[in-house]
Amino acid sequence: MVRGIAAAVRQGSGQMPGRYRMALITGATSGIGAAFAAALPRETGLLLTGRDAARLEAEAGRRALIALAETLPIDLLINNAGFGAFGPCLENDRGTELGMVAVNVTAVVELTHALLPAMIERARGQGGRAGLIVVSSTVAFVPMPMMATYAATKTFELSFTEALAEELRDAPVDVLVFCPGATRTGFFQRARMPDGFLRYAEEPAAVAPKALAALGRQRVQVSRGSVGLALSTIAVPRRIVAAGARRFIQRIAGHGDS
Ligand SMILES: NC(=O)c1ccc[n+]([C@@H]2O[C@H](COP(=O)([O-])OP(=O)(O)OC[C@H]3O[C@@H](n4cnc5c(N)ncnc54)[C@H](OP(=O)(O)O)[C@@H]3O)[C@@H](O)[C@H]2O)c1
Repeated sequence: MVRGIAAAVRQGSGQMPGRYRMALITGATSGIGAAFAAALPRETGLLLTGRDAARLEAEAGRRALIALAETLPIDLLINNAGFGAFGPCLENDRGTELGMVAVNVTAVVELTHALLPAMIERARGQGGRAGLIVVSSTVAFVPMPMMATYAATKTFELSFTEALAEELRDAPVDVLVFCPGATRTGFFQRARMPDGFLRYAEEPAAVAPKALAALGRQRVQVSRGSVGLALSTIAVPRRIVAAGARRFIQRIAGHGDS
């Protein structure tokens, strides 16, 4: 246990062929991140972070985590940490809105940019493959009133990761952007979202393995339920999609349909 920087370091043997030797999972103290840690085989060592241990919204927290990660043979990076805030953007706390950008966007770019080149080089030297998973969301596909900043950060993650995957198509690294739908975690309480959203939620233990199974096979994996959302943005003007999303969210939140 390394306090102050990482929540936990688990040494793995890394000796099984085809298995990652050491994974860095951000936001692994609960929810989907903890489910990723549980789903990885014992042979994979883990560097796990949570908010209290590495405050990713602060530059110093990100730097400290990168410095630690650089001392370890990370070959799988899972950018999972993230949070949302429910409510009209202009009425939400500005610091919270900016914190979302820092954790869901800046930290993802900074960790990926800092760690991936060495991960790729190690993979090349060892004749293996590195892995990158960015946890986005199904809300990435549509403008989402009442979660404007959060949804925009998830759109960023989707676009960033898909573009990176194409840039790295010939490099020994598998790149995946993972888009869970509603998942039963602490996310909703932290975002101050009404319970109605949990009605359709999946369990994190069912969600994380889908990403691990998809890594190396595809670039975008939707956990459940957004094919319609994605198609709607092609077939329908985005203004109408945004209005529909607002009505949907207000109905689930019990705010009526105005
Ligand atoms: N739950 C859903 O319905 C859902 C759907 C789509 C996408 N996602 C995405 O899935 C990812 C994981 O969320 P979750 O649902 O598992 O929520 P969660 O249970 O609240 O877990 C979030 C994790 O991120 C960490 N974290 C939050 N703010 C942080 C900060 N400022 N600095 C560093 N770490 C921070 C938390 O650490 P602490 O526990 O130490 O605070 C926790 O480990 C997020 O990127 C979220 O956007 C969730």
